[in-house]
Amino acid sequence: MDDRLADNRAHWEELAALHPDTAFYDVESFLDGESTLRPLEREELGGRVGEGTRLLHLQCHFGLDTLSWARHGADVTGADFSETAVETARDLARETGLAERARFVEGDLYDLPAVLDEAFDVVFTSYGVLNWLPDIEAWADVVGHFLTSGGTFYVAEIHPFSHVLMDLDLVEGRPVPDWSYFGGDPRTYDEDGTYADREAELDDTVTHEWAHGLGEVVTALVDAGLDVEFVREHPFACFEQFPGMEHDEDGYWWLPEAPEDVPLTFSLRARG
Ligand SMILES: C[S@@+](CC[C@H](N)C(=O)[O-])C[C@H]1O[C@@H](n2cnc3c(N)ncnc32)[C@H](O)[C@@H]1O
Repeated sequence: MDDRLADNRAHWEELAALHPDTAFYDVESFLDGESTLRPLEREELGGRVGEGTRLLHLQCHFGLDTLSWARHGADVTGADFSETAVETARDLARETGLAERARFVEGDLYDLPAVLDEAFDVVFTSYGVLNWLPDIEAWADVVGHFLTSGGTFYVAEIHPFSHVLMDLDLVEGRPVPDWSYFGGDPRTYDEDGTYADREAELDDTVTHEWAHGLGEVVTALVDAGLDVEFVREHPFACFEQFPGMEHDEDGYWWLPEAPEDVPLTFSLRARG
């Protein structure tokens, strides 16, 4: 494995151990029967997921969204490169009585075609996934590889432009971002804390993230043979991306001074 992906995996191993105990993930409500899926993906994908739908969830973390789709009747496969995440997901599947329709596979996303030999009606991925991937064309090929002809791919994700706003200075009125929208070399961070627990002290703090502009993502999927049905941009975030954001009951975060003005999330649906 590439050293940078190995650093990322060590970091995610640690987060996978921490996250189930955070209020952000609220595992207790999930065990009580609540879905962790947000209204966006339920509205935009839910109509295509029902009894027996074969659904693959890429970068599934510890499986809450995957298992929520199983509660919609789907036969789900979650995949992630964190062993801890996959083991926790399997435990949750057993605990919720969903184990018969849920399986979890450990592996780097790019290696999955060598590990899983089947096709899926739906391929799903969401919120905080693409920035961990060095090669977006190869990612799109993996999506295309697993999708049945006529099947549905769906992603809801942090809007790539919003990454630029997270570290932005103005020099004589001109924007000077710390993060290029257009990608290139990865950004390396060495920080404690996670989006689910800002105060967490970590051992594996070094991570590497890649920028992929919206055009790059859409073009990669088109080049992989998918028919894009829509790309939608939304002014809410899936976590407190900027200090002082306001939280709503659907789990989205809003900029109080500009609730309709800045793209913070995008969603894309395509056919295989
Ligand atoms: C931000 S989390 C996804 C969160 C998910 N939306 C949720 O809230 O449960 C990103 C996930 O991507 C996984 N990941 C990162 N790089 C990966 C790779 N190269 N292959 C497979 N999984 C990867 C991490 O282990 C982590 O579980």
